[in-house]
Amino acid sequence: MRSFAGRDILSLKDFERNEFFHVFDVAQKMEPIARSRKNVDMLKEKTLVTAFYQPSTRTRLAHEGAMHRLGGHVTGFSDAKNTRAGDFYQESIKDTVKMLEFYGDVIVMRHFQQGAPQEAAKWASIPIINGGDGWGEHPTQILTDLYTVWREKGRIDGLKWLAVGDMRMRTMHSLAYALTQFDCPITFVSPPEMSLTEEFKKELKDYSLNYKEVDHVEKAIGEADVILVEPVVQPDYTKSRDERSGKDVGLTPANYKITRELLEKKAKSDAILLHSLPRMDEIPTDVDITHWSRYWQEAFNGVVMRMALLALVLGAME
Ligand code: CP
Repeated sequence: MRSFAGRDILSLKDFERNEFFHVFDVAQKMEPIARSRKNVDMLKEKTLVTAFYQPSTRTRLAHEGAMHRLGGHVTGFSDAKNTRAGDFYQESIKDTVKMLEFYGDVIVMRHFQQGAPQEAAKWASIPIINGGDGWGEHPTQILTDLYTVWREKGRIDGLKWLAVGDMRMRTMHSLAYALTQFDCPITFVSPPEMSLTEEFKKELKDYSLNYKEVDHVEKAIGEADVILVEPVVQPDYTKSRDERSGKDVGLTPANYKITRELLEKKAKSDAILLHSLPRMDEIPTDVDITHWSRYWQEAFNGVVMRMALLALVLGAME
């Protein structure tokens, strides 16, 4: 297996099957630290730089929380408007990371341009972690979700997935790439205008992913072991910021909504429901306390997974 020390985490297309399981093993070792709510000194000599060109609650703060749990330091920006990349100068990614690499030992970057973290990795002498790039990928989120499934179900292989939402979404791309490494059939449900592109479908076929597309969650939920949901009412991920306008946002059509009633009527009793959040109305809040929901567990695992990734790329864990 390739070493993780010094490595960029840019895409799950790069990930091999045994690397997933290795990351899960390291994450499991991190769990007691996160659960104890105490900080250790594993990364006390290291600093994380957060470079966020797009809003985030979970990804940035979970990386920061993870770094603190491991005794490390954090610096960075959460709004590029306050940097030279976001003012008159429109400073390039190259020039920016050529600075940031001296301010810390690893950079987690979120950007509205697909491929921006890859561009950063071309120029940086320290690891770059992709915290979500445009419609591109969101590898640390899907590692978190797969880890949640592995912990909840004790396995990944043999589970049937249902993915619901906007298939242009970066999480969906990382998920599909990840599942090519496992024996996991997946059904995608999305509005036609948000469906998988022909180019991406060809790529998935080339990787032998066992997938199908249907037009309504009711047609697929009954056979799913894992249900992963994303909004279909959402902002434009190619913008640095997409404010909600004065007018009301649309409601999620029933085809793409997971209600308590639907779960009770049609879902397997031991299926698990994932949502990386934030959500709109695609999972109503009365689902939260049902035995299907695992999104709060995902939130905890989001810190655990980032602890594992930071420890690995900074060489503190082999
Ligand atoms: N799931 C996720 O990426 O959340 P944030 O946008 O809050 O980081």
